[in-house]
Amino acid sequence: MDSPNDNAPAPLTDGTHRVSTSGDVEVSTYLGIAQEREQAPGTRRSIGESEPLKPEGIAVIDYGSQYSRLIARRVREQNVYCELISPTAPRAAVDGLDLKGIILSGGPASVYEDAAPLAQPWIFESGVPVLGICYGMQLLAHQLGGSVVPATEREYGFAVVHKNDPSPLFDGLDDETAVWMSHGDRISSMPPGFRSIAYTENSPIAAMANDAGMYGIQFHPEVAHTPQGAEVIRNFAYRVCGVSGSWTPGNFVAETVQRIRDQVGDGRVICALSGGVDSAVTARLVHEAIGDQLTCIFVNNGLLRREEPERVRAVFERNLGLNLVYVDATERFLSGLAGVTDPEQKRKTIGAEFINVFEEEARTMGAVDFLAQGTLYPDVIESETAEHSASHKIKTHHNVGGLPERMQLDLVEPLRYLFKDEVRLVGAELGLPPEMINRQPFPGPGLAIRIIGDVTYDKLETLRAADWIVMDEIKGDGLYDQLWQSFAVLTDTRTVGVMGDLRTYQHVVALRAVTSEDAMTADWARLPYETLARISNRIVNEVPSVNRVVYDITSKPPGTIEWE
Ligand code: XMP
Repeated sequence: MDSPNDNAPAPLTDGTHRVSTSGDVEVSTYLGIAQEREQAPGTRRSIGESEPLKPEGIAVIDYGSQYSRLIARRVREQNVYCELISPTAPRAAVDGLDLKGIILSGGPASVYEDAAPLAQPWIFESGVPVLGICYGMQLLAHQLGGSVVPATEREYGFAVVHKNDPSPLFDGLDDETAVWMSHGDRISSMPPGFRSIAYTENSPIAAMANDAGMYGIQFHPEVAHTPQGAEVIRNFAYRVCGVSGSWTPGNFVAETVQRIRDQVGDGRVICALSGGVDSAVTARLVHEAIGDQLTCIFVNNGLLRREEPERVRAVFERNLGLNLVYVDATERFLSGLAGVTDPEQKRKTIGAEFINVFEEEARTMGAVDFLAQGTLYPDVIESETAEHSASHKIKTHHNVGGLPERMQLDLVEPLRYLFKDEVRLVGAELGLPPEMINRQPFPGPGLAIRIIGDVTYDKLETLRAADWIVMDEIKGDGLYDQLWQSFAVLTDTRTVGVMGDLRTYQHVVALRAVTSEDAMTADWARLPYETLARISNRIVNEVPSVNRVVYDITSKPPGTIEWE
């Protein structure tokens, strides 16, 4: 089970974040994440003189359920903005919202344990409807005068709920509907004023409500296993909380453009383009807001896929008309990487070199005030718990320190409260080409972490050729959009083969293709044998120095998506 978050994600802000110079801030280049440790939860920064925009929203209090993030996504799918808030956060944590409702998530604790995280009084005093899910429902029972006891049997898996009292929460739902349960405690008596609105065979009180707009449901509406779950969430938002559904890509763009203008004024902004969707949407949004005050820097580190630099330049420079500084730093990166075989050392070398190149370029531009970067909401949520999970760090990923603090830049992070799928919708709204919006993720250190062992120009060319074939076949078979990632890895293993009458002794290429929701977990893709066969044949025939192709059938966990 997940452990509860102790720190609240910062509330909706304008995206202005002065990064500490104390060195306790890890900043991604490559190009993502600013982890602000110094900002107290609940603090809000003002933007210029203007009145901050307050989006209509629902707060999800995160009691540590593995599904909390899913609740937030499901609410947003209903065109309603929402934020994940820690159970310990003060009322000020939601000051940035026009608060319409509160959802108490599930969680691993039991309400009667001493250290159980509770619902803070401000939640009940806020006057907005509250929906408790699983542990959240038990909190309502426990704190409002009912009682919760351990169930004789844990209820886990599918159950059928029967509606037994009309309520707006279940409007339009079938009288009997399948739901997903996962709980060990049950409510033995409801608090005064509550009535049961649904039951299952094992839970006489599978859902409860009072007349003050408080609801508890024992099942999980946020998971796909509850087929009518989206309707429950939609009913809560629209019928119970009375939201207007204003969280749309169009509104987001309009409001964000205004925010960026307010924040930046007539300052100058730089943005590093990586070719990925996050930095592309960031740059496009900032450009929409302030036009030529933005300069984008695109560093070709020599570790990119075939034709990638040309593609990025074509889109941004020629199609979208952005100020783009293109730097071909291939030689610098490759000489820095010479002889480096350790994956973490590769990441560090690439990150440090990137900062050097970027800083040098920026210096030639004179005074610059802001750095725009594509930090996403999952990065923000994760950075809040990073301190607690440092020992679990598997790869350093984006945590390459240094850029904004060294350059004394304020951050513009317009995507700081978006999930990846929302970024794509915003990208479409902004007219970015579909192949850029729907591009599979590509790691900042690029092909360097897909070459096992040291990285050389020749190996990069070999991998680029194999990777090109993989992409070609995957796209040709219409599989690209179904896969989270699909790529080739150049292993450091050589094997014997025969080519014509000749014995060969050449590299093994591994093919990796995974499906995933968010890269936290991933499953190896069941690619059609025909696709696998064509990829293998083509690589062995068309790529010199490769004589064998293997397919990686490891999921994450225990594997990771990348090999390094
Ligand atoms: P793993 O390999 O940890 O990767 O399962 C999860 C996701 O993160 C990407 N990845 C990176 N992205 N810098 C990045 O910007 C990195 O150092 C890095 N390492 C992995 C990976 O491609 C996958 O999408």
